[in-house]
Amino acid sequence: MKIGIVGAGMVGSAAGFALVMQGIASEIVLIDLDEKRARAEAEDIAHAVPFASSAVVRAGGYDDLHGAWVVILACGVGQKPGETRLQLLGRNAEVFRSVVGQVLPAAPEAILLVASNPVDIMGQITARIAGLAPGRVIGSGTILDTARFRWLLSRHLGIAPGSVHGYVLGEHGDSEVLAWSNARAGSVPLASFAAQVGAPITEDVRARIDKGVRRAAYTIIEGKGATWYGIGAGLARICRAIGGDEQAVLSVSVPGDVLGVQDVALSLPRVVGAAGVTATLWPELDEAETEGLRASAELLKGLVEAV
Ligand code: LAC
Repeated sequence: MKIGIVGAGMVGSAAGFALVMQGIASEIVLIDLDEKRARAEAEDIAHAVPFASSAVVRAGGYDDLHGAWVVILACGVGQKPGETRLQLLGRNAEVFRSVVGQVLPAAPEAILLVASNPVDIMGQITARIAGLAPGRVIGSGTILDTARFRWLLSRHLGIAPGSVHGYVLGEHGDSEVLAWSNARAGSVPLASFAAQVGAPITEDVRARIDKGVRRAAYTIIEGKGATWYGIGAGLARICRAIGGDEQAVLSVSVPGDVLGVQDVALSLPRVVGAAGVTATLWPELDEAETEGLRASAELLKGLVEAV
């Protein structure tokens, strides 16, 4: 599977590295305004190929995107310490208007996978500009937040993250909703399993895990300036679902109607395969989660209308 990556910064490069190490891509083209950076990142990632796969990794231009199954959009500016994702909107909206107009002629069949923040709004802007069929513009959304949620729960419960089933929904940002009420460990409701293993989900545990998910990026950015490994792996996971036509359920962001808010992009559990997002699963939520998701939808709707 050929994959284009626009933006050879830390996120785009981490995604490229993850794609190589997991053998997901047969060819990766890295594009960046800083051509020297794109060449350097491509060569560095290519040196990992002999350890993992047989991918061709190279830097190029938009014309080199021909035949790409997926084009990852990881271009624009990232959060500075203390900055919210929503504060990036104006700068990145301008970047995307230029980039999307160059990607589409080169790769009209590609699925566009948006990573740049604020990812929900950037995904909706991209969908508007591209005019592609629904589901062919996907925002990485809360796929990373869901991973953080599952990882923290798995450490608390002493089980593998893959055995924890729970989702973070809504905005990939401060208004996101951790869907505690329908989280499970194996096939067992979370609260019951936690009690069985002597690791109850107390209010303190719940607050700690909520903060650990909701504030993760801020904490990491304070320490190293940006995040990239988690999101890079999340982007690779979405590409694997597309390339393998998996029909995998992933919390990703596409525009739709949510709890009475029309045409807003946020994350819900969605079915992802070769055609992009083909279905949305509406989870059973408690009243607080439902209200939180509605608030997230209203927040994003207000912002995307202002762009
Ligand atoms: C984060 C960035 C990808 O949450 O928004 O780490």
